[in-house]
Amino acid sequence: MTVTIVGAQLGDEGKGGVVDLYGDAADVVARYQGGDNAGHTVVEDGTEYKLSLVPSGAVRGKVGVLGNGCVVNPRTLFEEIEALRERGLDPDVRVARRAHVIMPYHRVLDGIEEEVKSESDQEVGTTGRGIGPTYEDKAGRRGVRIGDLLDPDTLRERLEYVVPQKRAVVEDVYGLDVADLEDPEAFDVDAVFEEYREYGQRLAEQGMPVESGAFLADARDDGQTVMLEGAQGTLIDIDHGNYPYVTSSNPTAGGAATGTGLSPGVIGDGEVIGIVKGYLSRVGSGPMPTELGGVEGDTPGYDEQGAGENEETATYIREEGGEYGTVTGRPRRVGWLDMPMLRHATRASGFTGLAVNHVDVLAGLDEVRVAHTYDLDGETRESVPATTEEWGRCEPNYRTFDGWADADWSAVADEGYEALPANARAYLEYVSDELDTPIYAVGVGPGRDDTVVVERPL
Ligand code: IMP
Repeated sequence: MTVTIVGAQLGDEGKGGVVDLYGDAADVVARYQGGDNAGHTVVEDGTEYKLSLVPSGAVRGKVGVLGNGCVVNPRTLFEEIEALRERGLDPDVRVARRAHVIMPYHRVLDGIEEEVKSESDQEVGTTGRGIGPTYEDKAGRRGVRIGDLLDPDTLRERLEYVVPQKRAVVEDVYGLDVADLEDPEAFDVDAVFEEYREYGQRLAEQGMPVESGAFLADARDDGQTVMLEGAQGTLIDIDHGNYPYVTSSNPTAGGAATGTGLSPGVIGDGEVIGIVKGYLSRVGSGPMPTELGGVEGDTPGYDEQGAGENEETATYIREEGGEYGTVTGRPRRVGWLDMPMLRHATRASGFTGLAVNHVDVLAGLDEVRVAHTYDLDGETRESVPATTEEWGRCEPNYRTFDGWADADWSAVADEGYEALPANARAYLEYVSDELDTPIYAVGVGPGRDDTVVVERPL
């Protein structure tokens, strides 16, 4: 059986904690999309590991696979592996030969395009890791794959075609001089070839490249259990998210098949767990109908409207939930739970179970609200409209729940579901009923043990 973990909202739902919780019983943990734009912290025996590419299971002695749907930056990959080795671990990481490689010019182009878009307020707020440009080249059939790094002749041939094109984009489209860039070597065929050929050698020496579909199918035939770890979330899916404020891959469950080489039947026969945060948070721009307060520079219309009347609730949730960017320290936008968003996510991925996180963060509020439906142009909508412009015009119709008091959450996690405050259970049961999907786990704190486990899929 497989277990697929999918973010149901806008990323940062606490997927890492659930992968950690359930992944203990898995033999192999595979990522199926994204790259080092993700970020998760794993705490093992009191030691904290910050990873962005290596699947978190690798810290716990699982085999970690980066599937063909991932985009792999070998610099990040080897840095993370080395850091784990320095701390006495021996991570077993395999990389799909079909996965695309994030090249130095991809990162540079990501930065330039965001800069140019920002002149007309159209920037996406990307992580700057070159994710979009790499997937562009994949679709444009000019990408470099892990398999190409293993064969110097092919690598050189690919680079001789693509690097001059990238240089021309910088110079002729954006009117910049490559020599003035921070990393001019990113546009030098020989420099890129030397560095990446060496990565190819290291990958080969360490036995890392695999045919991911065959590797995972063989593992299953041997009776091993496979967990598929999605990064980001449904509303920033390139197809099902709020385009263009999206990442360039498919975090939804379909991506688990195309991004690993396991068949849709295999994924669908297993469990697909939707990870939900008990409220919303959003990094960067784009609509958020249930937003509380607002964040200058990110919330559309902030300059005209300011933070608004719900600023106090926003601050409360932001403080309690630690909703500040891990790198930048910038406040994240926060809002109430949004059921149209979750109905959309549940349909797109076919969740068989839900893990609802951060329920402790909402404790202490007099009432907790949820957008039950939206009004859009005089009509009631149960799901998210297809365009971002329409989504921006949606007005939530709220349901209000009585709040719950703070509790000894570790004790609650030990005792189980019935120990949750009654009002929190009413809230969870509403979510579960609306989505016709059982609750598998409830997150009540940041630690590994701060989870009320209802079902263990493995
Ligand atoms: P990219 O993936 O770097 O291209 O960024 C595209 C959009 O996805 C931006 O709005 C990012 O903030 C968002 N994004 C990418 N990765 C994550 C994540 O792990 N959590 C939350 N948002 C993310």
